[in-house]
Amino acid sequence: MRAVVLKDFGRPLEIEDVPDPILGTGEVIVDVAAAPVLSYADEVFSGARRYLLPTPVVPGCGAIGRVREVGPDATRLKPGDWVFCDPTVRSRDDALMPDIVLQGWSARGEGGQKLQGYHRDGPFAERVRVPTENAVPIGDIDPADAGLWCAVNTLLIAYGGLLAMELRAGENLLVSGATGNFGSAATLTALAMGARCVVAPGRNEAVLADLDRRFGRRVAPVVLTGDAARDGEAMRAAAPGAIDAVLDFLPPSVGASVARTAIMAVRPYGRAVLMGGVGMLGGEDLALPYPWIMRNLVTVRGQWMYPREAVAGMVGLVRAGLLSLSHFAVTEFALDDVNDAVAHAAANAGPFRLTVLKP
Ligand SMILES: NC(=O)c1ccc[n+]([C@@H]2O[C@H](COP(=O)([O-])OP(=O)(O)OC[C@H]3O[C@@H](n4cnc5c(N)ncnc54)[C@H](OP(=O)(O)O)[C@@H]3O)[C@@H](O)[C@H]2O)c1
Repeated sequence: MRAVVLKDFGRPLEIEDVPDPILGTGEVIVDVAAAPVLSYADEVFSGARRYLLPTPVVPGCGAIGRVREVGPDATRLKPGDWVFCDPTVRSRDDALMPDIVLQGWSARGEGGQKLQGYHRDGPFAERVRVPTENAVPIGDIDPADAGLWCAVNTLLIAYGGLLAMELRAGENLLVSGATGNFGSAATLTALAMGARCVVAPGRNEAVLADLDRRFGRRVAPVVLTGDAARDGEAMRAAAPGAIDAVLDFLPPSVGASVARTAIMAVRPYGRAVLMGGVGMLGGEDLALPYPWIMRNLVTVRGQWMYPREAVAGMVGLVRAGLLSLSHFAVTEFALDDVNDAVAHAAANAGPFRLTVLKP
């Protein structure tokens, strides 16, 4: 089959004929129809992000495709089914704390790297082999929409945070980083789940205006000034009532105090879920005050990716017409043009934009 190969970090991607993946028990081979090219793929492939990804490798992170072949233990999946290839591969030998690898993308820790030794190649290829549970049916789609369905790759991550906080219909949510790629996806998803209002702080006034245009009075944009006291007050004042929960999606470049100000806008008994990268490049710790958490009975938790059942929930939101994928503008590239696709994705990062490879 034809596949994109990353021979070494810092080298352009190459398109080659490589051996077809071989099916084993507990696995599925999928014909890839479309695979998203993430906006920071250039930083992964240059080595700047220092992702744990052994080369040479067929990269990629998530895909939409059709089942080609199933292993002997698949009881429902069958050839021809449209599926989302979930890149979140979990080890099966520890139910309590499975190791996780993002197939074709990165690994974490010793166990993740061991798992990656086998579930290594991703979907920038005509075919990909995934664990059976990672080929999740999405129902019939128009093949022309395969690229658009790649939006679920981003939306699912946002949904993972909203599930973790147990967001309920009618609640007010604050998304810290709402003008970013995942923050905007969280805003769209929370509204689809029935949030009363999403408080959307940001500095980029063009994106804030775009959120306002898309979602109207259910989004409350707040222009950040950098003054923690003023910003905290403005976020609380923007919500039509108390802020029930906060989802943080700020990247590592942002100082901890920006995250802290947004998190501390939550009401007593409220919840905060941390999904961004604050502190991952060093710098000040988040340092939420112990007495504030205790006296206000606040729940703070972290979330990486999303649970397996999230895919069915996300497909349900789309199928019910609650979440429209048409918010996303998709640009598609052929496998041969993968390097152009990576450059395009970097130059067109931002809310509701999607670059897709069609093998
Ligand atoms: N937990 C997980 O499973 C998971 C999965 C994927 C990604 N992530 C993480 O999510 C994070 C966000 O990624 P992304 O692609 O959404 O990033 P992004 O598109 O670059 O968005 C960055 C956001 O941060 C805001 N921001 C930047 N500097 C700021 C400052 N000084 N003050 C206030 N706001 C500031 C931006 O707002 P303005 O532009 O308006 O300033 C924007 O809303 C990353 O750390 C990524 O690693 C987590």
